[in-house]
Amino acid sequence: MKIILGITGGIAAYKAAELLRLLRGRDADVEVVMTEAATRFVAPLTFEALSGKPVHSDQWQGMAHIDLSRGADAILIAPATADFISKIAYGRADDLLSALCLARECPLHIAPAMNRMMWENPATRRNMRLAKADGVILHGPDDGIQACGESGPGRMMEPVEIAERLFSFLAPKYLNGKKFLITAGPTVEAIDPVRAITNFSSGKMGYALARAAIDAGASVILVSGPTALRPPSGAEFIPVVSAIEMREAVMARIREADVFASVAAVADYRVANASGIKIKKEGSLTLELVPNPDILAEVANLENAPFCLGFAAETDHLVEHAEEKMLRKKVDMLAANLVEDAMGLDTNEIVLLTPVGRRILARTSKQEIAAELVREIANELDLR
Ligand code: C5P
Repeated sequence: MKIILGITGGIAAYKAAELLRLLRGRDADVEVVMTEAATRFVAPLTFEALSGKPVHSDQWQGMAHIDLSRGADAILIAPATADFISKIAYGRADDLLSALCLARECPLHIAPAMNRMMWENPATRRNMRLAKADGVILHGPDDGIQACGESGPGRMMEPVEIAERLFSFLAPKYLNGKKFLITAGPTVEAIDPVRAITNFSSGKMGYALARAAIDAGASVILVSGPTALRPPSGAEFIPVVSAIEMREAVMARIREADVFASVAAVADYRVANASGIKIKKEGSLTLELVPNPDILAEVANLENAPFCLGFAAETDHLVEHAEEKMLRKKVDMLAANLVEDAMGLDTNEIVLLTPVGRRILARTSKQEIAAELVREIANELDLR
C-alpha cells in the first residue's frame, strides 16, 4: 500500500511521527510531504528516519507534485491546519502538498487540528463543507484539552485511531451487507458486590475479529465482557458483565446476524446465590456454583441459525477436545488454540476446524489471524 502522509504546520505535527510509525508497522510504503511551516515544528530528519526515505517539501523539484501521488492509495494530511483546509476547499496549489492534493487520483483523508475558535469559525465551517462536498474524508477532530490550554473541539484524533480508520477504509469490502455478532472478553460472575469469579481472557482476539470484519465491510455488533481495550471504531458496542447478561444481549440481536463469532471466554459456572452485601471473613467459605447457559450451543441450535464460529482454548489434547466441541455444539467452524499460546498475548496460533478438514494458521498477530478467519468465513458464506 502506498500512502502520502502530508504534515502541515500545527503543534500536533509531533504526533505525525507516531502516526508514521503505525503506518509503517502495517507495511505501508509512506512518502512524507511537509509544508514549510510543518518543518518549523518538527525537523524533517525525524520523518526521514521513520519512513526510510527523504522528506519532500520543495515545490520546485521537477514534477514532484504529480509523480509523488502516482499510484498512491491515499493522501492523508495529519495534522491539517485551518489554513491548509482552506487551500483544499478552494483548490489552491501554491506549495508542494496542496499541489499534490489538487493533482491526485486517490482519496484525500484529513485529520484537522487547530484551536477550537478556529475550528468553530464560520469560515472554517464553510471550508469544511466545501471539502466534504468534494469527497474529502474527515477524521476527527476530537474534543479535549488543546495545546493553547483551552478545551474544546479541534484536537487531532489520536494516531492509532487515524491509522485504524485509514486502513479500514482501504481494505477490500468483500463482506458488504453482512452482519456479524461477536462476543469477546471474559465474563465476570459476582460472588458479592466486591468479589467475583472470572478468567484471564484479554478480549484481544474478539476485538481483532471485530476490526477485521468491519474492515472487510461487514457491520458488527460487539458484545463484550469487561476488558482494558478500546472498542473498535465502527462497531456497535454492547458492554456486559456476566454470562447471563451476555446471553441476553446476544439473544436480543441474533436474528439480525449472518455470522455469530463466539470468541468470549464465557465462565462455565456462576455463584448460585450471589450475596447482595459484602460477605464477612469468618473461617472457611463454601461457594455453590451452577452452570451458565452455553450461548454458542444455544445459537447454533436455533432454527435458521447464523453461520457459527466457535473458539476452544485448551491446555491439552487440543484437537480432540476441539473436535468434540465442534460436534457437540454443532458449530460450522471452530478455532482451537492452546491457552499458553493465546491468552493475553498479542499473537496467536490456531488449528482451524471445518466440516471438511483442518488447517493450521501459523503464529502471527491476532489482527492477522482475525483477517484470515474473516476470509475463511467469507468463503464459507459464498459456498452456502
Ligand atoms: O468453554 P468452552 O471451551 O466450551 O467454549 C467453547 C466455545 O463456546 C467458545 O466459542 C465460547 O465462546 C462458547 N461458550 C459459550 N457459552 C458458554 C461457554 C462457552 O458461548 N457458557
